[in-house]
Amino acid sequence: PAVQPLAGLKLMLTAGPTREALDPVRYISNHSSGKMGFALAAAARALGADVTLVSGPVSLATPAGVQRINVESAQNMYDAVMAGIDVQHIFIACAAVADYAPKIVASHKIKKTSADNMVVELTKNPDIVAAVAALQQKPFTVGFAAETRDVEKYALDKLKRKNLDMIAANDVSGSDRGFNSDQNALSVFWQGGLQHLPLADKTGLAEQLLTLIAKRYHDTH
Ligand code: C5P
Repeated sequence: PAVQPLAGLKLMLTAGPTREALDPVRYISNHSSGKMGFALAAAARALGADVTLVSGPVSLATPAGVQRINVESAQNMYDAVMAGIDVQHIFIACAAVADYAPKIVASHKIKKTSADNMVVELTKNPDIVAAVAALQQKPFTVGFAAETRDVEKYALDKLKRKNLDMIAANDVSGSDRGFNSDQNALSVFWQGGLQHLPLADKTGLAEQLLTLIAKRYHDTH
C-alpha cells in the first residue's frame, strides 16, 4: 500500500503450535495451523514493518521479506523471543502455546507395558506474552484469546491480567472460523475501547488488525 504506517518499526510475532516432547518420537501439541500468524506477518511487512516471525512447526511458506525463526517447544519459543525482544517496537503473540509440557522427557522411546493405564506428569510452561508485557522496556504488546464462550469477559480479564496493550479475541466455537479455517472474525479490545472485525479471510482480517495496531501504537507513542 502507498501508506505504510509501520515503516521504521520492528515487529516480532509468534505463530503456530508448540510441540512438547514426551520421548524422542512423541509429543503433545494442538491443531493450530499458523495461518493467522503468517497472514499477520505478511500484512505487517506490507505496512512497512521489519518483521521477525517466531514459528512453531507448521507447513506454511515464509512470507516474502519476513525473517523467520523456527522453534519446537514453548521453552524454545520463549528463548527465541527473549533473545530478540529488546529491539522490538511491537510484539504480537499469535501462537497457540502449550500450557503444560511433560515434566520428564524420556531419553529413549517409552515402552508399552502390561498396565492398562499410564500417568504422564505435566509442568507449566512459561507464559511468553506475559513475560514480554512484564519487561521494563515493554514493546506494544498484543495477545490473542481463543474462547468458546463469554469471549468478551475472558478477553478483558486477559488484557488486564497479562498487562497487554491490546487483545484480539476469536470465538472458536464455530467451524467456519479460527484454527484450521481460512476465515476468522475478531473482537479487539484495549483499555477504553473495542472494535469488532467481522468474518473475513485471514489475509484481509490481518490487514485490518495491523492497521488498528498501528493506529493504537501511534496514539500511545
Ligand atoms: O491464557 P491464554 O493461553 O488463553 O492466552 C492466550 C494468549 O497468550 C495468546 O496471545 C498466546 O499466544 C499467549 N500465550 C503465550 N505463552 C503461553 C500461553 C499463551 O504467549 N505459554
